[in-house]
Amino acid sequence: MRVIIQDNYDKMCKWAADYIASKIRAHKEKRPFVLGLPTGSSPIGVYRELSRMNREGELSFANVVTFNMDEYLGLPRTHDQSYWYFMHDNCFDHLVDMKPENINILNGMTDDPERECREYEAKIASYGGIDLFMGGIGVDGHIAFNEPFTSLASRTGVRNLTTDTRIVNSRFFGNDPEAVPSQALSVGVGTVFDSKEVLILINGHNKARALAATVEGAVSQKWTCSALQYHNGAIIACDEAACGELTVDTYKYFLDIERAERL
Ligand code: GLP
Repeated sequence: MRVIIQDNYDKMCKWAADYIASKIRAHKEKRPFVLGLPTGSSPIGVYRELSRMNREGELSFANVVTFNMDEYLGLPRTHDQSYWYFMHDNCFDHLVDMKPENINILNGMTDDPERECREYEAKIASYGGIDLFMGGIGVDGHIAFNEPFTSLASRTGVRNLTTDTRIVNSRFFGNDPEAVPSQALSVGVGTVFDSKEVLILINGHNKARALAATVEGAVSQKWTCSALQYHNGAIIACDEAACGELTVDTYKYFLDIERAERL
């Protein structure tokens, strides 16, 4: 596992955007580059930087297919807190050559959630899997909407959200946890970890426990993020603020090993 420690949020986002761009540019095959994407506040700076690169002609999305991690069940696309809306507002609407037909987001209004999830997995498989999955992390270490004790082998499916997550996410719903949908469709931990590479953004003091559990804790379904330890292409990009619960030797180890800038 690589852990990239940056001074602050902006530098973390710049590092992550540069990394993603380098992978897209290096992809010379005819088949599209398949990119997994998250929502949440963590990736906003990454989307801003990727959009800038795209607008200024430094990076093309013409041969990129995207799959988003999750979507609230029961929210229409037009709802300003749906993840469809978020992705268009923060990313896709700002890309000049992203093809709409290459954007994949689970349909939260489906009348058959099980089928929707099965078909999503099948579509990912039809592209040969995901090349790079970027993700965020919940304060309880959840990846996508895989709350504590979701199987580390889970696939795309319906998830019940914990009260904790609904409280945390209520900041986007007028601070009313009851207004946050109680269920979501989400890729599984197994879906994310089948990707060739996984890049997880972890920033801010409130994520310090989750970062320590991901890097130093035992692999456990209590912290679904800890499954990253078994992934051969796992990278965590974090900021200083998130490092507060790491032991000093872990912190020094990653600064030392990454000093040579292995981008
Ligand atoms: C939600 C999303 C996750 C995201 C998490 C953290 O629960 N389903 O994919 O990682 O929020 O969001 P934030 O980046 O806003 O802290």
